[in-house]
Amino acid sequence: MRTPLCDRLGIEFPIFAFSHCRDVVAAVTNAGGFGVLGALAYEPERLAIELDWLDDHVGERPYGVDFAMPAVYVGKGGGDEARPENLAAMIPDGHRRFVADLLDAAGIPERPADAGTPVIKAAGLNVDAEGPDQVELCLSHPNVQMIVNALGPPPAYVLERAHASGVLVGALAGAAQHAERQVAMGVDVVVAQGTEAGGHCGEISTMVLVPQIVDAVGDRVPVLAAGGIADGRQMAAAMALGAQGVWCGSVWLLTEEADVFPEVTEHLLAATSGDAVRSRAMTGKPARQLRTRWTEAWAQPDAPPTLPMPLQGILYAEAASRFTRVHSADFAGHPAGQIIGSLHAVRPARRVVLDMVEGWIDTVTGLAELTGSGT
Ligand SMILES: Cc1cc2nc3c(=O)[nH]c(=O)nc-3n(C[C@H](O)[C@H](O)[C@H](O)COP(=O)(O)O)c2cc1C
Repeated sequence: MRTPLCDRLGIEFPIFAFSHCRDVVAAVTNAGGFGVLGALAYEPERLAIELDWLDDHVGERPYGVDFAMPAVYVGKGGGDEARPENLAAMIPDGHRRFVADLLDAAGIPERPADAGTPVIKAAGLNVDAEGPDQVELCLSHPNVQMIVNALGPPPAYVLERAHASGVLVGALAGAAQHAERQVAMGVDVVVAQGTEAGGHCGEISTMVLVPQIVDAVGDRVPVLAAGGIADGRQMAAAMALGAQGVWCGSVWLLTEEADVFPEVTEHLLAATSGDAVRSRAMTGKPARQLRTRWTEAWAQPDAPPTLPMPLQGILYAEAASRFTRVHSADFAGHPAGQIIGSLHAVRPARRVVLDMVEGWIDTVTGLAELTGSGT
């Protein structure tokens, strides 16, 4: 089941695992797939620790790192405006009041003064201040063989620096014209991500999007399929649509290695596909996530409009520093895709990889039997 991209990267199975958790990344990489560490959550010092740890735990095997460097955000270009305290000051009082009233009404206590200042991480925050050093850090780790950008084409310096080191650059795309633009800029691998995916997503389903992107750019670069893929049947379907592999996110949330609060795991296990809603409430851009009291509140007609990235993310992170302290089940949100409604158990990440491979073989064999038995 190796594809040309597997050969290029030196991996056994065309299964790419996006996760913020290094243990998941290492487990998938060691099982023969390709783990990709979501670096959004890590300031540079912490990222250095994570990459050193990964190097120590995957031997010679390659892995990737994913950044969220949006094409459009408040504070783009860096400078004074982009300082976190200045961005936080741009959040209107009315929005802060809306959040305070929402949390008060739900009985979520204020953060006590001695709880310290919360660390605020949000997509689109510190992109210019931290991005270049983070990229250099990745390139100083030879196991890092692919750098991926989540929100639009990566900045030109990422392409230049990665290519100078022989490292592939990937980018997520939710529409064929986005993929075209990315490939024209020099992106080496396109992740065609359908609307059912967890996290930021467009409006076109994986089934429709993957062949559109394969038709648009598949003769120039490999395309990976993302969104709604967690078993061998979906993997076989993705490959039939022309993808050279699958890129999954939600399925790793329900693995033993995932670092997720227990109340979120409960929520993920209980969720149906309809509970994975597309909302701007977490980051300011549409992202699929578990329905919670937070997403519901921002969907009400009297709610203020969500703010642009990263202001909405800052507001969310401030609120989360209040409700995660008390492990609120009502507010315990998380990015998650529609596939979450098909996942009902927590498995080791290695088992997930092997189940997908075995399911893929069964599906391909079953298809041959099905069509071979026809008249
Ligand atoms: C918890 C979670 C967080 C995510 N955060 C990012 C991110 O920071 N960068 C990124 O490129 N994609 C992110 N994604 C999207 C994944 O990379 C992937 O495209 C998506 O999960 C695939 O769809 P699936 O959830 O149906 O497997 C995230 C997905 C999830 C579930």
